[in-house]
Amino acid sequence: MDKLEIEGGTGLRGKVTISGAKNAALPVMAASILTPGEHYIYNIPILRDITTMGKLLAHMGMGYHLENEEVILQSNKITSTEAPYDFVKTMRASVLVLGPMLARMGEAKVSLPGGCAIGARPINLHIMGLEKMGAQINLTEGYIHARARKLKGASICFDIPTVTGTENLMMAATLAEGETLLENAACEPEVVDLANALKSMGAKIEGAGTNTITITGVTSLNPLKYTIVADRIETGTFMIAAAITGGDVVINRCRPEQSDALINKMREAGVDITVHKDSLTVRGPERIQSIDIKTAPYPGFPTDMQAQFMALMSIADGSSLITESIFENRFMHVAEIRRMGATIRVEGSTATVRGVKNLVGAPVMATDLRASASLVLAGLAAKGKTIIDRVYHIDRGYEKIEEKLQGLGSRIRRIR
Ligand code: EPU
Repeated sequence: MDKLEIEGGTGLRGKVTISGAKNAALPVMAASILTPGEHYIYNIPILRDITTMGKLLAHMGMGYHLENEEVILQSNKITSTEAPYDFVKTMRASVLVLGPMLARMGEAKVSLPGGCAIGARPINLHIMGLEKMGAQINLTEGYIHARARKLKGASICFDIPTVTGTENLMMAATLAEGETLLENAACEPEVVDLANALKSMGAKIEGAGTNTITITGVTSLNPLKYTIVADRIETGTFMIAAAITGGDVVINRCRPEQSDALINKMREAGVDITVHKDSLTVRGPERIQSIDIKTAPYPGFPTDMQAQFMALMSIADGSSLITESIFENRFMHVAEIRRMGATIRVEGSTATVRGVKNLVGAPVMATDLRASASLVLAGLAAKGKTIIDRVYHIDRGYEKIEEKLQGLGSRIRRIR
């Protein structure tokens, strides 16, 4: 198992280029199921989750080829409508094949995801929506078995906004009979990117990016030719890398307007950020100031940046309250950052972080994707050597992380 070794204490300097967004690329790849043909998707990040989705589509009979950040999917033949447990247990986003497969084939069998490191994460709202659209759903032997000769437009209101739930139902609705209304829908930029991809295929969708989305079903769609949006979470992670090391970094090929909540909070903490059209310059201050954050659905502070922000607050001046309101167990990084000298107390969904002057390098273990990013950030700031075990978590979501950080002058290397 690979490890990352970081010799901390170097201020990052230089330029870094952001890759395509994992959480936009995954649903867009799943959208290729909707219609036969050859699909071209550009600006694909080269990541483990992307290859898992590619292998799942190949398992279903599709052609899959990934090269130079471009994926080609051939969906003329679907030979299996099943997403087996082995795929879903490796990557929960496998559930994104449910909506499009049911819409095209009239049937889909997808393994139920279990709980995961960050919370229980049920998919009851995906199921509720499909049932409202006329699907018959049986849950047996750990699988969701959905059938519908033809899905019908419906009015669906989510109890809580769900990103992949909104994506699954939006895809299913593109080929349904009549109009589907999604209320209290997720507004995340990745939902908007999927809507744009679907519209480029000929789907009729209005309101993506707001909490009410209307989809008017069409009888057929065209294959995809689509470029994935930049990754706002990778962008945010590099913003914190610059700030936590007192560095000076230009982050290129990103979408600053999608990171407003983070930019505002980082400025409040004393970080100097200049926003350009598609790049950002981030300069870390001598000492970061402690501030409070609470995660919320977009456009609020993203839960996917909570762990990284905690690393920043662990060396800030003062005390910070970090409240996680999306997932119930997303504090797995706390015990690890503490091993590096951070003072953090967790009570329920709130962590109180009392900033220390310095973190100290230590052997630590990655527990999930964003938690492992926070350990890399802590390691970059710490005095001495940090060794991060189980970096396969980070490889799920950050393209060439050590190469990009080396390019900014950090002393990081992979131990194979
Ligand atoms: N929820 C339900 N029932 C459902 C669906 C969701 O109760 O049917 C709850 C969840 O348990 C959670 C909340 O609703 O408490 C929001 O979850 P959501 O469904 O929005 O999360 P997701 O779609 O499973 C996506 C991202 C996550 C990101 C969350 C929140 C993808 C592939 N994953 O997950 O990304 O944290 O939205 O923004 O888009 C990551 O990249 O590290 C990651 C975990």
